[in-house]
Amino acid sequence: MLEATVKKILQARVYEAACETPISPAPFLSRRFNNQILIKREDLQPVFSFKIRGAYNKMTQLTQEQKDKGVIAASAGNHAQGLAMAAKLMGVKAVIVMPRITPEIKVQAVRARGAKVILKGDAFAAAAEHAQELIKEHGYTYIPPFDDIDVVAGQGTIGVEILRQHAGRLDAIFVPVGGGGLIAGVAAYVKYLRPDIKIIGVEAEDSACLNAALEAGERVVLDQVGVFAEGVAVAQIGEVPFALMKDLIDDVITVTTDEMCAAVKDIFEDTRAVAETSGALSLAGLKKYIQQTGAEGETLLCINSGANTNFDRLQHIAERTELGEQREAILAVTIAEKPGSFKKFCRTVGKRMVTEFSYRYADSSEAHIYVGIQVKPGGEDRQAVIDKLREGGYQVEDLTDNELAKLHIRHLSGGRPSERFEEEVYRFEFPERPGALMNFLTQLPHDWNISLFHYRNHGAAYGRVLVGMQVPNGDRIHVAEYLDAIGYRYWRESDNPAYRLFMA
Ligand SMILES: Cc1ncc(COP(=O)(O)O)c(C=O)c1O
Repeated sequence: MLEATVKKILQARVYEAACETPISPAPFLSRRFNNQILIKREDLQPVFSFKIRGAYNKMTQLTQEQKDKGVIAASAGNHAQGLAMAAKLMGVKAVIVMPRITPEIKVQAVRARGAKVILKGDAFAAAAEHAQELIKEHGYTYIPPFDDIDVVAGQGTIGVEILRQHAGRLDAIFVPVGGGGLIAGVAAYVKYLRPDIKIIGVEAEDSACLNAALEAGERVVLDQVGVFAEGVAVAQIGEVPFALMKDLIDDVITVTTDEMCAAVKDIFEDTRAVAETSGALSLAGLKKYIQQTGAEGETLLCINSGANTNFDRLQHIAERTELGEQREAILAVTIAEKPGSFKKFCRTVGKRMVTEFSYRYADSSEAHIYVGIQVKPGGEDRQAVIDKLREGGYQVEDLTDNELAKLHIRHLSGGRPSERFEEEVYRFEFPERPGALMNFLTQLPHDWNISLFHYRNHGAAYGRVLVGMQVPNGDRIHVAEYLDAIGYRYWRESDNPAYRLFMA
């Protein structure tokens, strides 16, 4: 079976549609992790993912009659774009069925490549069912995303390129896994020629269908599948890929959402390319492998499999990156609600970089602070930070691994105080340097109470900070003088309707 697959890979026709992508060195990552790290750049394909290889190769196997009738797939992702492009190049009609909830940008991308898009059902299963009905009705040929030997053979051409482009030492190749078409093709070719090179699959922990199948000794259907990395959100590993790869691959590593986000940033820093989360998955696994095995001086290659991400998602990805690197501890801290206690808290935190601060007056006895504090990569000193705060008399809850807190509460914390009180609200630009916050707090008069504080580090030269202050009556007319003396740019927002409506 292996030899037959290798022959199919060598005979696969992909280059009329796909290009041979380069392998980029990753110098920053290599230095950081003491290993030579390489990235195979499938994000540079004309459809921004490797999927064109398998789709095109499959299409070249069709008979003239099949081509005349047209092809169909149910997909909202990269397969849809790959198939649409392959069909257009061959002058074949392509129909893509997508769930109605598919983002408009993806619908447009597939239409732009000349395919007919049919929106059907609320979920993928309903779209797939409709595709089957259309096949019966019109005689279209179904082009599967991964469970097909010709699709696997097309993806396997990546393995051919890797061995040709990198003839020297190569210890392991890290491959993202959805339905398994990509890893099956790469593993078949590489293991046939270079059995010494490890093939390691990488899965998102909430869609780890290969891992589940290997543990059970057979293909299983996951009850639920996380969709953060939609390219690999598959509930059951493909039959053809599984049979082919199960004795070839060396290991499977699963990674978290935060680790994938961190890998998106790593790829950007080394190549200036923006990967989609599934595209960065393999690098997240590579980093975990180094962490788990202590590998040093090895040559490790990962496949950046795609770059089809919505621009709007980047903000969220960036936010989760610090957490993925475990460089940030997220804590809920309870402090006394009285003048000076916010400053005392900042002093206890000490010189550590504060990445986020949210604080809202709740009642007259205590206040809850949502705070992000930078810790060493890997988070080894997180407990030390928590212990220090507890020794300082603070009640601390560690929210670093709390999904609800990271996704929602950070944006919602605060709101209206439970009792009526007067405060002055100002928006500031603080220089993003250690000590800027302490400088601000130190220069305010001691009897002004901070009743609202919101800050998030954005990696820019200036941080944007919203501050509410309870100012004694006699000081009201002097507020501007005090703030001018501090020297940070500011705007009074006490009469801003957004503040009045939601926070006053
Ligand atoms: C960007 C990206 N990476 C990885 C995969 C996983 O490929 P496979 O389903 O062949 O395992 C996909 C599948 O669509 C993808 O779009």
